[in-house]
Formats: sequence, structure tokens, C-alpha cells
Amino acid sequence: MPNPEPRTPGRESVSGPASELRLHTATPEQTEALGRRLGGLLRAGDVIALSGDLGAGKTVLARGIAAGAGAAGHVASPTFTFLREYHGAVTVYHVDLFRLDRPQQLEDLGLDEVLDGNGIVVLEWAEKARPLLPPEHLWITIRFMNGEDTRQLVFSPKGARYADVVARLRSRES
Ligand SMILES: Nc1ncnc2c1ncn2[C@@H]1O[C@H](COP(=O)(O)OP(=O)(O)OP(=O)(O)O)[C@@H](O)[C@H]1O
Ligand SMILES: [Mg+2]
Repeated sequence: MPNPEPRTPGRESVSGPASELRLHTATPEQTEALGRRLGGLLRAGDVIALSGDLGAGKTVLARGIAAGAGAAGHVASPTFTFLREYHGAVTVYHVDLFRLDRPQQLEDLGLDEVLDGNGIVVLEWAEKARPLLPPEHLWITIRFMNGEDTRQLVFSPKGARYADVVARLRSRES
């Protein structure tokens, strides 16, 4: 039997294309603004997983998310080198796993404590933390498109909470 054709182009999509949202931005400012809109829909306990190549715009988006959630500026974590904390009405934990070699390191570093915490967690290079991610999260892949500043952002919600967030993001699009 031949293999069936894949039904979705995005490999990360397990919730199906119906709940997926694809948006394009043309500038870093647009990506940050999109992050702010998303951040405004989030609450403590939410987990946002970012994936995309070097320079795709993960940090730009994360900054927007923090601002939209009401947390501005950032401080280095006193405890963890891979962690920045944005403080405000809610704490946003911005985790960058680029330098991570082994998933076991994450447990050594205490990522599970951050994920169990009371803030919003935004993870860059989230694929490196996949075994530790809660089953429900919002996965966002950022891709380079034709034109050096154009990016495609694919929002793939895992679970009802994030399907709702993405539906709200979609409805405020127009
Ligand atoms: N549409 C766009 N959205 C976001 N960033 C853009 C866009 N167009 C150009 N850029 C530029 O791309 C770069 C994105 O940098 P950023 O640090 O956010 O990437 P990153 O994905 O976090 O990379 P890294 O994996 O190295 O952490 C910035 O220099 C930004 O100005
Ligand atoms: Mg970055």
C-alpha cells in the first residue's frame, strides 16, 4: 500500500488544520504587534511554544507577548541562565533553550518548576523541551518567506484552551 498523502503541510499540527491559524507579517513591528494581541488573550498558567530558525522572530514575538500581557521590560532570572522574567500584572517567563544540549539538562535546570509556576511561559526552541511540555499548549512556528522581512506564523493550538485563544486571535484579525 502506498503511504497516504499527508493532509496538513505543517508537521507540528496535531489538532488539525481547522483550528490552525496562519498569518503573515511584513516587519518586526508587525510581529511584535501580533505578539501584543496574543499576550492580551493570555493568563497565568498558559504555555506558548515557539519554533523557527535563527533570526525568525521568536524573541520579537515573545517581547510583544510580554507587553500585551501587561509585563514590560525584563530582568535576568536570578536562578536560571536560560530564563528572562518580565514582571507586571502577570509574570512572563521567557525561556530560551537554544544552548540546551540534552533534555535531561532541563530538569537539572528546573524548567519543570517554571512550567508549574503561576506565570505565562514562552519557550524559544520549544522542540528541545518537547518531553516536558504540558499536553495542552499553543505551538507557534515562524517561517521565513520570500522577501527578507516577511514571516509566516502558524498558530497550532493543542487543547481546548488554546483553540479558544486562537479563535479569538482570528476573530480580531479583520
Ligand atoms: N517580519 C518580521 N518579524 C520579526 N522579525 C523580523 C521580521 N522582519 C525582519 N525581522 C528581523 O529578524 C530578526 C528576528 O530576531 P529575533 O531575535 O526575534 O529572532 P529569533 O527567532 O529569536 O532568533 P534566535 O533563534 O537567534 O533567538 C530581527 O533582527 C528583526 O528585526
Ligand atoms: Mg531569540
